[in-house]
Amino acid sequence: MCGIFGITGTTEPLGAILAGLESLEYRGYDSAGVAFFDAGSGELRVVRVAELTHSVEKLRSMVADAPAITGAVIGHTRWATHGAPTERNAHPHVDCTGNVAIVHNGIIENHRELAEALLANGHVLASDTDTEVIAHLVEAELAGGQGLREAVRRSMAILRGDFALAIVALVEPDAIVVARRTSPIVIGRTENSGLVASDIAALVGATRELYLLGDDEIAEIRPGSVEACDLAGNPVELRRLEVTWSVADAKKDGYDDFMSKEIHEQPHAIAQTLLGRITGDGETEIEELTIPPAKLASYRRVLFLGCGSSYHAALVGRQSVETWGKIHADADISSEFRYRLSVVGPETLVVAVSQSGETVDSLHAIREARRRGAGVITVSNVVDSVMARESDGVCYTHAGPEIGVASTKCHTAQLALLQVLALHIARARGTIDEAEARVVADGLESAAALVGQAVARAATYMDVARRFATVDDVYFLGRRSGLPIAMEGALKLKELAYVRAEAYPAGEMKHGPISLIKPGVVVLVVATRTGLWEKVMANVEEMRARGATIVAIADDGDDETAGLVDAVLAIPSTLELLTPIVAAVPNQCFAYAIARARGNDVDRPRNLAKVVTVE
Ligand code: G6P
Repeated sequence: MCGIFGITGTTEPLGAILAGLESLEYRGYDSAGVAFFDAGSGELRVVRVAELTHSVEKLRSMVADAPAITGAVIGHTRWATHGAPTERNAHPHVDCTGNVAIVHNGIIENHRELAEALLANGHVLASDTDTEVIAHLVEAELAGGQGLREAVRRSMAILRGDFALAIVALVEPDAIVVARRTSPIVIGRTENSGLVASDIAALVGATRELYLLGDDEIAEIRPGSVEACDLAGNPVELRRLEVTWSVADAKKDGYDDFMSKEIHEQPHAIAQTLLGRITGDGETEIEELTIPPAKLASYRRVLFLGCGSSYHAALVGRQSVETWGKIHADADISSEFRYRLSVVGPETLVVAVSQSGETVDSLHAIREARRRGAGVITVSNVVDSVMARESDGVCYTHAGPEIGVASTKCHTAQLALLQVLALHIARARGTIDEAEARVVADGLESAAALVGQAVARAATYMDVARRFATVDDVYFLGRRSGLPIAMEGALKLKELAYVRAEAYPAGEMKHGPISLIKPGVVVLVVATRTGLWEKVMANVEEMRARGATIVAIADDGDDETAGLVDAVLAIPSTLELLTPIVAAVPNQCFAYAIARARGNDVDRPRNLAKVVTVE
């Protein structure tokens, strides 16, 4: 997590830094800071603030009267890992001389032992962070006569963990030295300036000449030039990045918040993602997936991995592959898979789902899977993301940048693409007949329009939700494809509205959780006609009998279901395995409306960050 932004060679660096940090706030926002050189005194100045969800805004007011600036500037927006979100732990961190400043994203695993050695050598540490040790390591190397890039390279060699760093120092005030291991860094260049940020979206407004820094590489960014080397000091050529996003994609466009904008963008995101994937006769085409059908057909097992909403998409992908591909399929949470001795080898195809393509648990999970010989496909929304580069094959969603922390359009685009992938695998295996393949393909071709119909009812869904704005306990129930829908609904309510919400298989409630059902508890049930409707409704009766208030996601025109529950969120009907795409919309609106009614910031929920690059 954490966002890094740096710039050198411009006349208005602070404006650029603050705008860059604002666009990176989705990565963390509990504190923020900036380091720059005072043009008058030449000294390095650091301004930091910890203001929970509005740190960058506060930082903007604090630097409004900043003196004239010279040279390079670095800034940071933080999601606390080591050390509470306080001003003293906010980045940038400086060394003992106050002449070196660093911003960091990730975790330095051996920071304790490094700190002990530094303290023994007389350094004074001023924060509780893992980051600060790097400033002191660089300080020591500079004192030994090294240039800034060499000082960073030598320091980096003894760091353990995953990190992205940007460092400035008084010895070379025009330069920003950046380094990365696992965590992302994007470098930008114009004729007279150099930039660095944690993601593409923060840079596309300034330049489209963007480069990716590789793992264990160090780059020196100066006005108009970038030079890079590897950990051994050998020069390396940086890879130019293909830019598919525009600045307009990352603006609110008149919506109150990014979440509502992104909810409304879903039909477009799904249509873009499916464009060209289904050919006329129900066949599939995934151009960027370079794994040939014969190889896809050779696997004996498919394992889907993901975190958060991506894990819920993975659960749906699992069902589709199993149903159409007639192959043993599982889904696992990346952080669990990584530390379990599961039976994964060359016979397993791993499909990792990650909109950012940089969630560290998923990244390490695919590394582990490949180490064991498995084939790995990453489903990502970010072209050339770290995970995409470390996979055997890749499938891209084309949802555009998603800024709201809770995933909406990226999640439904993932669901759509996973269905294409499942169909693709089933066709490769020859396990789905032409007629069924055509039905699925037709269903997918109507998905964007059906989601459009659901989005058009956002206000109706939100009216229903507001009736439950003060609820304390919500159970989300579903069976088969309804279960991942329920899990995603509960997650949305927890993360946005801060309401205790639990998802459960409807048929399993009677084995324990039913003891918690009493008047005042709300049960939101997925009761579409394609998903074991009678069984689900029997479970609903058990909840009603104990006093629960029932809200159902049900098919349009299903008066029978409507007559059996207290409120309905009606969706257009589709195939069972495509229902999660459409049902995501009332789930999103339900959580959104309750969160807003409670006064919560839906784009920046407390304690969360969009991209989780720590374990
Ligand atoms: C965070 C975000 C979620 C997201 C999850 C996985 O928790 O808040 O919205 O689903 O990370 O992220 P990924 O980029 O791997 O899909």
